[in-house]
Amino acid sequence: MLREFRRALLAALPEPLSKIIRCVGAPNKFIHFPDPTYAKDELVTRHNCDFRREPRFAAAYAQARATNSFYGGDPEWRAYVCCWAGRHALNLPGDFVECGVNKGGYSLAVASYVDFAAQPRRFWLLDTYEGLVDECISDAERAVGRRAGGYEPCYDQVVRTFSPYPNVRIVRGVIPGTLA
Ligand SMILES: C[S@@+](CC[C@H](N)C(=O)[O-])C[C@H]1O[C@@H](n2cnc3c(N)ncnc32)[C@H](O)[C@@H]1O
Repeated sequence: MLREFRRALLAALPEPLSKIIRCVGAPNKFIHFPDPTYAKDELVTRHNCDFRREPRFAAAYAQARATNSFYGGDPEWRAYVCCWAGRHALNLPGDFVECGVNKGGYSLAVASYVDFAAQPRRFWLLDTYEGLVDECISDAERAVGRRAGGYEPCYDQVVRTFSPYPNVRIVRGVIPGTLA
């Protein structure tokens, strides 16, 4: 009876309020997350993440991190998603492209993971390599403080990073103009 009343009360309350009450009443259910398989980069899960033990991925990710693309972060799962997608994309015809490369961490992870230098296709890396440009910033973005620049120049670094890959093309300039 009491339980039914509580359930009806919670259902009648606005969702954010009922969430707070349920959380206070049973914090472990909502906050405690025992035995995660992965808990970093704002992702906590118990899903299988055996990919972390895969030597080919570990080597690719170590190279990516060494570019300092992640600014002290550790987005291992995200990098694996890129590698996974890259591996499957090899089953399709066509080139690879990344728009907004910065220092190239994710593209390097993919290139290393799929042995891109041995692939009969090109990998296009498009960026200004010196941050955002004013004319591409929308009013909505400007309103929330987005400004031109924001990234240190990294063109020379990216050229060095991808020098082992003769089929990588580094395109410096403003997107979408450079897509033409
Ligand atoms: C957040 S970084 C993303 C880097 C990388 N994809 C990653 O996830 O780590 C965004 C990059 O997009 C580039 N960028 C933003 N707008 C651009 C534009 N219109 N043309 C070319 N590059 C642009 C910036 O220079 C910056 O390097």
